[in-house]
Amino acid sequence: MFDTKILGTDEDSIAYAAKLLSQGEVVGMPTETVYGLAANAFDEAAVRKIFAAKGRPADNPLIVHISDISQLEGLVDKIPSLAVKCAEKFWAGPLTMIMPKSEKIPMVTSGGLDTVGIRMPSHKVARALISACGFPIAAPSANLSGSPSPTTAQHVLNDMHGRIPAIIDGGACGVGVESTVISFEGEDGIRLLRPGFISAEDLMEITPNVLIDKGVLEKLGENVKVRSPGMKYKHYAPKADVTIIDSSLEAFREYVKTHADNDTTLMVFTDNDCEGLDIPHICYGANDEEQAKELFDVLRELDDIGAKKVYARCPNKDGVGLAVYNRLLRAAGFQVVKL
Ligand code: TXA
Ligand code: MG
Repeated sequence: MFDTKILGTDEDSIAYAAKLLSQGEVVGMPTETVYGLAANAFDEAAVRKIFAAKGRPADNPLIVHISDISQLEGLVDKIPSLAVKCAEKFWAGPLTMIMPKSEKIPMVTSGGLDTVGIRMPSHKVARALISACGFPIAAPSANLSGSPSPTTAQHVLNDMHGRIPAIIDGGACGVGVESTVISFEGEDGIRLLRPGFISAEDLMEITPNVLIDKGVLEKLGENVKVRSPGMKYKHYAPKADVTIIDSSLEAFREYVKTHADNDTTLMVFTDNDCEGLDIPHICYGANDEEQAKELFDVLRELDDIGAKKVYARCPNKDGVGLAVYNRLLRAAGFQVVKL
C-alpha cells in the first residue's frame, strides 16, 4: 500500500516523479488526451506493476510514449513511409501508430505482440517527464480496467489510491478521449483501430486509403481475431444501464416521455434538449470537442449519483464525434435505439 502523493508540475516535482520511474515505480501522468499510468517501457518488472495496478489483462499491449522523434528509431524495426508523414503532420499530438517492434521493447510491454504502439504526446508535463527520464514511458490510461479513462488527477486518485506512489496533477485534460490508434496496410493504407481527436478525415489528408476497422462501431464476436486487443474488452462501463437514442431531438423527447421511469437519468448535449421534460439530466456538451472533453467525467458522475437507467443522445458519427460515439457505444454495451 502506498500513501499516494499528489505532485505539482514544477521542476522539482517532475524530477521527483522521474526518480520514482527510474527506480521502477509507477506514476500517474497527465497527457493532452487522458491521464496515463507511467512506467519505464524497458523495465519488465515496472511494466508488470502497471498491469497489476489496473487489473489489466496481460495480452492488452501498452502504448510507448516518447518526447522526441529521434527516440523512434530504436523502438521499431521498420518505419513505414506513411508513418513518417503522419509523424510530421500530427506529432506531437494525440496519435498512436502501431509498427513492428524492435528487440528493445519487452514482450510484457507489447502484450506478447511483435508490434508496438508509439505516441509522442503534446502535453508539456508529459514531455518534460519523458525527457527527464531519458527512457520511453509505457502508459495505458490510468483507470482501473473497465472504468472510464481519467481526465483529472482526482479521477486517477479515485481509482489508484494506495496502488501507486504518486500522481502529477496537471489539471483537466484538454482532449478528454484517448489517442487515435492506427496501423498501416501495404504501402498506402491506414487502418483506424481507435478513433480520437485526430479524425478519419484528418488522416485522409495523408492518404485517401483510410479504412475504419470493424471493431470501431461493431461489437466483435467472442472468437473473432481482433487487430487491437483493447477492442475485445468491456470498457468505460458505468454501473447504470445506458441506451443511446439515435434520433432527432424531437424523437428523443417523445421516446423518453414514454419510456422514462423514476430511475431514469438523461444524458443530453445541453439543457435545451430537456425543455418540457421533468426528468433528471446531465449535459455533456454542445459540440464534438466539448463532448469528447466531458464524456468520461459524465460517465463517472452517473455512478456518483447512483443512476440506474440512462438514455443518452447520440453523438455525431464523423470527425471527433466518431471518437465520442465509439466510447459511448462501449459504455452502453452497444445498446442503441434507432428511431
Ligand atoms: O491517449 C492515449 O492513448 C492514452 C494516454 C495515456 O497516452 N493511453 C491509452 O492507453 O489510452 P490504453 O492502454 O488505455 O489504450 C491503448 C489501446 C488499447 O486498446 C490497446 O489494445 C491498443 O491501444 N494497442 C496498444 N498497442 C497495440 C498494438 N501493438 N497493436 C494493437 N493495438 C494496440
Ligand atoms: Mg484504456
